[in-house]
Amino acid sequence: MLEIKALHQSFGEVDVLRDVTFTVNEGEFVAILGPSGSGKSTLFQLIGGILAPKSGAILLHQRPINGEKGHMSYMPQQASLLPWRTVLQNVVLGQEIQGKANKEEAKQWLARVGLASFEEAYPIELSGGMKQRVTFIRALLSDRELLCLDEPFSALDEFTRLEMQTWLLSVWEKHRRSVLFVTHSIEEAIYLADKIVVLTKRPATVKQVINVPFARPRQEALLATTEFIALKQQLFTLIKEEKA
Ligand SMILES: Nc1ncnc2c1ncn2[C@@H]1O[C@H](COP(=O)(O)OP(=O)(O)OP(=O)(O)O)[C@@H](O)[C@H]1O
Ligand SMILES: [Mg+2]
Repeated sequence: MLEIKALHQSFGEVDVLRDVTFTVNEGEFVAILGPSGSGKSTLFQLIGGILAPKSGAILLHQRPINGEKGHMSYMPQQASLLPWRTVLQNVVLGQEIQGKANKEEAKQWLARVGLASFEEAYPIELSGGMKQRVTFIRALLSDRELLCLDEPFSALDEFTRLEMQTWLLSVWEKHRRSVLFVTHSIEEAIYLADKIVVLTKRPATVKQVINVPFARPRQEALLATTEFIALKQQLFTLIKEEKA
């Protein structure tokens, strides 16, 4: 469905992405793991059409979309809520742009992530984790083919994070949208993804693509299995090489 082909990006003298190639199939959940500063957020800006690549192609259903906006719902690394809008008004923003805001649906989602009583609150009244949850719901509700999440759960405590991961899995297993998910957590990548794209340090290129063999639906008990821990170790070794 989405093909990234020999993508190259630099900022001035600095090469950020070099020959990045991988695919996301229809309904596939793909995690991206790579060192800090390797170009993961840049990759999302390219897919989202905020930046145009220096060379290479981004194809959606075989059609080049280099520099084109509007194909993905995006949850940026920094929660970007509009301070003058309430939580509810922020959540329906993506839908509003597409001319079909559905406040009832938005309220149901807010309730599911424990924010029912914050619908009328303003972003300044929220904790970092709450802002992340609101941004996440907004991305989920703007109805695009591809959902790109840039470290969506990084500001959450470990327990809430696990809760959100399990919740995301249950939502995704019902809807099966194509997801690209950036994380620094190896465990999170394995727990959630069908496929993990491991990037090298800058200039980033694809070091390895690993298929995650675990059946779905996945449950928390998976995290403690020998197979899970072995895969975690394998990925840890790969990523450690990039830190050296
Ligand atoms: N607009 C820009 N102008 C100049 N340099 C940039 C720009 N955007 C990113 N960079 C540089 O590109 C490199 C990759 O940045 P990017 O944010 O994509 O990394 P990342 O993999 O998302 O890192 P992290 O894991 O810390 O979020 C960095 O060296 C950064 O300084
Ligand atoms: Mg980033």
